[in-house]
Amino acid sequence: MDTCRRTNERPRRFSKPSGSLHPPTHESFPIIKVLTFAYKNKYAMLNFGAGPARLPLEVTRQLSQDIIEYQQTGLSILELPHRGEAFGKILSEANALVKKLMQLNDDYEVLWMQGGGRMQFAVLPMNLLHSGRSAGYIDSGHWASEAIRYARHYGTIMVPASSREQHYHSLPVIHEAIPEDWAYLHITTNNTIYGTQFHDFPNSPAPLVADMSSDIFSRRINFSRFDLIYAVAQKNIGIAGVTMVVVKKSLLQQAADNLPGILSYREMAAKNSLVNTPPVFAIYSCLLTLRWMDSMGLDKLDQLNRNKAALMYAFLDESNLFKCLVPTGSRSNMNVCFQMKDEQATGYFLDYAASAGIQGISGHRSTGGFRVSLYNAITLSDVEQLTAVMRQFEKKYDKR
Ligand SMILES: Cc1ncc(COP(=O)(O)O)c(C=O)c1O
Repeated sequence: MDTCRRTNERPRRFSKPSGSLHPPTHESFPIIKVLTFAYKNKYAMLNFGAGPARLPLEVTRQLSQDIIEYQQTGLSILELPHRGEAFGKILSEANALVKKLMQLNDDYEVLWMQGGGRMQFAVLPMNLLHSGRSAGYIDSGHWASEAIRYARHYGTIMVPASSREQHYHSLPVIHEAIPEDWAYLHITTNNTIYGTQFHDFPNSPAPLVADMSSDIFSRRINFSRFDLIYAVAQKNIGIAGVTMVVVKKSLLQQAADNLPGILSYREMAAKNSLVNTPPVFAIYSCLLTLRWMDSMGLDKLDQLNRNKAALMYAFLDESNLFKCLVPTGSRSNMNVCFQMKDEQATGYFLDYAASAGIQGISGHRSTGGFRVSLYNAITLSDVEQLTAVMRQFEKKYDKR
């Protein structure tokens, strides 16, 4: 969209079709065009967007087939009844795969909720911050501070560590001991907008809650250290429209029991995420991505993600034109944020990258610069192509 504006491309006009009217052909149906696209063996553009993000091609292909007909049911996946047997199987396989990938046992419940990350910012304190208690939030970036802002509607919020004064370019360090009587301690494991990521987690006597929206399933960690994990789907799990919540059953017992069902973790768990009509297609996209991740294994994905990030940071650290503001220990393997030393050249590079088939690399509107998201579906070869384009641009720009 931006590119069009910059290159002053004239908007296309729709003209009235001339000649006689013909019955529609396959070409007339957008869905057939989608199918044609998905059956190509690669995507037409490299998409490094922060979410909605790239899906593995195998997943997109399967989704497009299932839009036409889901497993000889005679129905599209888009019309599958949510209380029927077929969707029941989708849900239970997805739940089982989540626990398998996280190596969690039956002490945990998996929930699929709507309303995205922001809804969890509210639902979490609604459920767990009651009876006059306080909760702690580590303030490591935009989304962490949004979570704090939402939680303040429900109780007293303590902030044991913040890197706001460092403009969130590095991770905050917790100096205080975490009190045992806090309802929970909240951490955002990966800060999507600033490109920082926690590689160690705090020891907390209070239940540890994590927003893992932008690094879920990207690495092997000890998930059982957490009492509640939530993650929006649109980065590493599937498409937008659903948020995964993994919660310890013992914590559920402490959750408020006076909330409307749709906002209540307890009710969601009791009804197996079927309090209302769930986003069937979005959950199905998660199942396909979970199967794909399971076939790779988290250890392999972890190694691949480290290699992709290492390639990007090595390039940036040597570059004459680009610079990464995040110090080594705080760097994210999922979102690599950087700027141009000459900020005025930012637009030139965005145009140059777009003409080379690369999109989704603009930094967040609040920070400017660039952000390259290296979620699981991005391959090492994608990153090699991007760094090659950056290198070419550097040569051209230096010769001006
Ligand atoms: C870490 C994190 N948490 C929460 C959100 C907000 O998610 P949503 O847009 O679904 O509200 C985002 C969005 O990018 C995010 O990166």
